[in-house]
Amino acid sequence: MATAPNLLAFPQSVPQSLVEKYRPRALKDFCGNVKPKEILQRLAERPYSSSWILRGESGTGKTSAALALADAIPAQLQHVASQDCTAKRIEEVWQNCFYMPVAGKRFHLILVDEADLMSEEAYSCTAYQVRQEQVYWGA
Ligand SMILES: Nc1ncnc2c1ncn2[C@@H]1O[C@H](COP(=O)(O)OP(=O)(O)OP(=O)(O)O)[C@@H](O)[C@H]1O
Ligand SMILES: [Mg+2]
Repeated sequence: MATAPNLLAFPQSVPQSLVEKYRPRALKDFCGNVKPKEILQRLAERPYSSSWILRGESGTGKTSAALALADAIPAQLQHVASQDCTAKRIEEVWQNCFYMPVAGKRFHLILVDEADLMSEEAYSCTAYQVRQEQVYWGA
């Protein structure tokens, strides 16, 4: 008779996913996307107060590119998950931007995943009043 596996014998740490393991860390390491990469690299060199929409198909590296941008600036990252993107949460992270970034960081970067799903209320709140630009990712 087969015995049940001993679950306690499994490693306690969760193994790193391949997507995470091979995610490009630097903008230069993304395949293709030559023009959008250039735009983000220029922004990393001379960051200014602005909001950016990265448009493109799912899985084409938009979130990864935003993380790489934060590293390149380097910026203090505040990552807002799509299910957490309420006006209250946006206002909260926006208020944090009025403080100096932590040591070693030059800017604040708020990354909102799946921004197309955010509520009208969240979209129209303060953080979206700054200059808005768009990059077509996956082009
Ligand atoms: N241009 C690319 N060069 C190298 N790796 C890429 C590229 N595009 C996507 N990837 C890989 O695909 C994975 C998924 O990318 P990511 O989650 O950033 O996509 P996304 O555009 O944010 O997707 P979604 O719209 O579903 O949120 C990344 O971990 C990355 O390793
Ligand atoms: Mg994403």
